[in-house]
Amino acid sequence: MRGNAEITADFNTLLTGELTAMDVYFVQSRICHNWGFHKLTERWAHEMEDETRHAESLIKRILFLEGAPDLRQRISYSIAASVEEMLKSNLELEIGVAKHLREVIAKCETLGDHGSRMVLEELLEDTENDHILWLETQLKLISKVGLENYLQSQV
Ligand SMILES: [Fe+2]
Ligand SMILES: [Fe+2]
Repeated sequence: MRGNAEITADFNTLLTGELTAMDVYFVQSRICHNWGFHKLTERWAHEMEDETRHAESLIKRILFLEGAPDLRQRISYSIAASVEEMLKSNLELEIGVAKHLREVIAKCETLGDHGSRMVLEELLEDTENDHILWLETQLKLISKVGLENYLQSQV
């Protein structure tokens, strides 16, 4: 079926967000490995897999709507210089993704595209109840136990 062109364009913008998150988690996983923070290495690698899965869902839906998935774009990001910066900048990125997901979900609802809405609701669930929640918990932990203790727990 040929989908609404506006929805296909929105899906491509969302795809840019997922691909950016995938790249960010990939590089952070390698950086944390280099720094010796093995728990964080594993966590970022797990997030990278989630983002890859999210990108795949969007690509599949764009193809189903007979659109052309655009995998060339990225949101500009800088490489975080510390663990705390990573946690903060990732939280910002995820909050931006969640906000955009909610906007496109509302548009799908208005246009009566329930299939597309369902795809996005799954992504929103992971983004809010896994990624954002986990990042917020880490930042709360840092303020409770102190940065040094937190970093020690991630070795
Ligand atoms: Fe995602
Ligand atoms: Fe995410």
